[in-house]
Amino acid sequence: MFVDSHCHLNYPELVAQMGSIRLAMQDAQVDRALIISTQLETFQGVCDLASQYDNFWCTVGVHPDEDHVLEPTEEDLLSRIAWGKVVGIGETGLDYYRLNGRSYAEMEWQRDRFRVHIRVAQQAQLPLVIHTRDASEDTLRILAEEGEDGRVGSVGGVFHCFTENWEVAQAALALGFYISFSGIVTFKNALQIKEVAKNVPLERMLIETDSPYLAPTPHRGKTNNPSFVPFVAQEVAKLKGIDVEEVAQVTSLNFENLFKKTKEIF
Ligand code: NI
Repeated sequence: MFVDSHCHLNYPELVAQMGSIRLAMQDAQVDRALIISTQLETFQGVCDLASQYDNFWCTVGVHPDEDHVLEPTEEDLLSRIAWGKVVGIGETGLDYYRLNGRSYAEMEWQRDRFRVHIRVAQQAQLPLVIHTRDASEDTLRILAEEGEDGRVGSVGGVFHCFTENWEVAQAALALGFYISFSGIVTFKNALQIKEVAKNVPLERMLIETDSPYLAPTPHRGKTNNPSFVPFVAQEVAKLKGIDVEEVAQVTSLNFENLFKKTKEIF
C-alpha cells in the first residue's frame, strides 16, 4: 500500500536489523522501498540489498555532502547501472548548509559533480533524486542549464526531503519534478513545510523516510526505518483533508510513474 521512496537501508544500524525491519514493513503495509546510494565505496552493499529482496530497488550516485570519497566520472556511474536493480540516479544536488568555512566559489566541485549526475541520468534515461539545502537557486539553475526543464528529452526526478518554501516548490514543479516529504512534515514546528505539503498537488508528491534519519512523530529521535512512512502519509492526509488511503494510493502510483523500471523484471 505505502512506498518509501528514499531510505538508506544499507547503513550498518539498519542492515543489522533487516529481519525485524521487513516484518515491521509488512505489518505497516509498506510494500516497497527505494534504497538510495550516497558513495561509490558503499554502492555494492546498496546493490546487494536490492538484489536480495524483490520489493527493494536502488539508485547509484554520490551525495553532495560526501567530500572525501571517490569522485564519480560519468563512466563510473553509467557502468554501475548494470550491476543490479538501479532505477534512478542520485542522490545528487547541492548543499551549501555544510560549507565548513568554504566560499561558494570553492564549492565548484559540488556543482561539477551535480552536472555529471544529470548527464548520466539523461544518457541512461533514468530519473534524478535531488538533495538541495541552502542552495535552491543554483540547483534550479543548473537543472535548467542542463536541459532538465520538463520538456522532451529531460528525465525529471524528485526533490527529496523537501525543506524549502512554496516558491522553490513551484519552480521545481515547473521543471517537471516531483516533491517528496519526509518525517519533518510531522514535526510540530515545521509550519513552512506543512504549508508546502498542503499546496503541492497530490499527483506530484512522493513520501519517504530518509531512514535512518528524521524519524516522524511519534518516533522522533529514534532510528528511522521504512515502516514509519505511513506517519508521513497520515500527516499529508490531515493537511489536505483527505483519507490516508488516497495518499497511499496516489503516491504509490506516482512512484511507479517516476521510477518506471520498478515495474520491469530484472
Ligand atoms: Ni538521503
